[in-house]
Amino acid sequence: MTWPSSSRYGIASRVGFGAGKVILLGEHGVVYGYPAIAAGLALGVEATAKRSSEHRLRIDSWSLNLPADPDSEEPLSRAFAMCLDDREPLPHPIEVACEVNLPPGAGLGCSAAIGVATLRALDEILNTQSSPEQLQERSLRWEKFFHGTPSGIDNAVSAFGGIVRYTRGSGVRRMSCPSALSLVIAHSGASSSTKDMVESVQRQQRHEPQKVAKVFQAIATLVQNAEHTMASGNLRHLGQLMTLNQSLLATLMLSTGKIEELCEIARDAGALGAKLTGAGGGGCIIALCEDSDQAFSVAEALHEKSESVFMSEVSS
Ligand code: MEV
Repeated sequence: MTWPSSSRYGIASRVGFGAGKVILLGEHGVVYGYPAIAAGLALGVEATAKRSSEHRLRIDSWSLNLPADPDSEEPLSRAFAMCLDDREPLPHPIEVACEVNLPPGAGLGCSAAIGVATLRALDEILNTQSSPEQLQERSLRWEKFFHGTPSGIDNAVSAFGGIVRYTRGSGVRRMSCPSALSLVIAHSGASSSTKDMVESVQRQQRHEPQKVAKVFQAIATLVQNAEHTMASGNLRHLGQLMTLNQSLLATLMLSTGKIEELCEIARDAGALGAKLTGAGGGGCIIALCEDSDQAFSVAEALHEKSESVFMSEVSS
């Protein structure tokens, strides 16, 4: 899958859209209440709802056509049943068809984007309009079917779009950044399970609580610095913070050889900083670039070692 063009995410323009996301800084710590900064992508999931003879959730590109079943083995089927249950009484059965333009298990918030898109499609057919806060709350319940203990950052950024600071305690705060951030996203070729990666950090936390707390505190300091840096538009410094964040994530064994290789290629090609995004253990890296020209050169360099390279501009 390639995504050659850059575009800006417009939240009000597409009903039934759930944005993918990247985490600029702070993944994993965010599960334990530390802050993180994430951005909504233009790439995501589009869902359309129509009247049908029975409730169904379809994802044709994954060959899925599921009933809404609260007792199903399939989490998508249970999550969909929960969404419909919330909207009872329904005037008629509904079929939702999702077009998923995100790789799953890649750190780009695919499951949250399917949830937000589905909820928006239901709004569309039922002629209702949920606020971003309502969508955030409902899509967090959706995420729990897939990840057990999600921090809520993926679905929050999918529901709000833009660039947000997020903590479990205080939720979403929109951030302003004077200019759009030019990112290159490259897939390491391996997918990973967020649930497994979060559990691996939990195990480390049980064995070495002080070490893990120190790592998360250090990451939280990077996030705090990034807030000031982004407000002043100092991209060079932001890139350095991202690279430091990558080193700290690696100490928790969340990186892989391929992720390290891609980050190095991006930096050698001129990126200001690079790191994994999301759960790690596979999935994508993100590289921050000075501008779209530099992003193009970085993307070209990454293409040598990654089959899926995307360029994206994210803005507040
Ligand atoms: C996943 O995109 C980010 C993690 O921090 C998990 C979470 O926040 O739920 C790894």
